[in-house]
Amino acid sequence: MDRRKIIIDTDPGVDDGMAIQLALNSKEFEILGLTTVFGNVDVELATINTLRLLHIANRNIPVAIGAANPLKGTFTYGVPFVHGDDGQGNTWVPKSPLKPIELSAAEFIVQQILAHPGQVTLIAIGPLTNLVLALELNPTIADVVKEIILMGGNAFCAGNATPAAEANVLSDPEAADIVLGANWQVTMVGLDVTHKVFMHNSVLEKIAENRTPLNAYVASTFPFYRDFFVKANKIEGTYVHDSSAIVYCLKPDLFETVQCPVRVETTACISKGKTWPSLGDSDHEEGDALVPWKNRPKINICVAVNSSEVIDFITQRLIQS
Ligand code: BDR
Ligand code: CA
Repeated sequence: MDRRKIIIDTDPGVDDGMAIQLALNSKEFEILGLTTVFGNVDVELATINTLRLLHIANRNIPVAIGAANPLKGTFTYGVPFVHGDDGQGNTWVPKSPLKPIELSAAEFIVQQILAHPGQVTLIAIGPLTNLVLALELNPTIADVVKEIILMGGNAFCAGNATPAAEANVLSDPEAADIVLGANWQVTMVGLDVTHKVFMHNSVLEKIAENRTPLNAYVASTFPFYRDFFVKANKIEGTYVHDSSAIVYCLKPDLFETVQCPVRVETTACISKGKTWPSLGDSDHEEGDALVPWKNRPKINICVAVNSSEVIDFITQRLIQS
């Protein structure tokens, strides 16, 4: 089988852990590496958490350390009330002996895309800073990357970090605006669909019955995260945001998309981090109203999803040994 070359850019994060497990369990993928970024936790902890997941999975895959801060400003605190103080549901499992590689995330992304022209898919499940740093290092990667699939944004629905904005985009809105405006193919797997992909407690329990080391570990990280959603969203389970992006890569037919340019609100206002699609024909409309969207590429925005099949797919992949 010709395996699909991917790099996962991540900020683990409980749901990042499940997404990484899902990718590791998917033989369709050749995972070239994982790159880390601040977000749910600081980048040091994100790297520790990524290396631990790989060690428990007994997989030796390069991990490159990425951005500690957004393009503008400084990373402050993450979201311990969602993912725990350790980003892994307060499980505090010891560090793994694995070490990151010498290259930075941006250097690694550039190296791999240039080494495999037209073949590398970047799956970004954290803030988008590393992608911009890679673009700045070598803008030609936009011409030779296969595609970008990102978990982030909210085109036609409310946010989760604020009423206006989704967490990954809000963490670095300037980076998101650059990524959504660059000349490469982007699919946005945002809250429009991930808030429909809901994993019930009974499914989490079923997955936890498979006691492979990685499964036992990832399952142990979920109760804290699930309890956040039970309290905040009054649901009997969790959303699986980052896994949804992995499923899109493997099974795009389970999603419906629309194509239009997207801008991100970057100014300091109540809508900061909102992803705004242009519904009109921004290249041809008269007047100035659509100028900010003009000459921007069309983003593939996921707007509907077969959520029961997505949940079944994730479940099957996670209960296999
Ligand atoms: C995104 O934010 C993080 O908390 C999750 O890991 C996911 O990537 C959802 O908005
Ligand atoms: Ca994430």
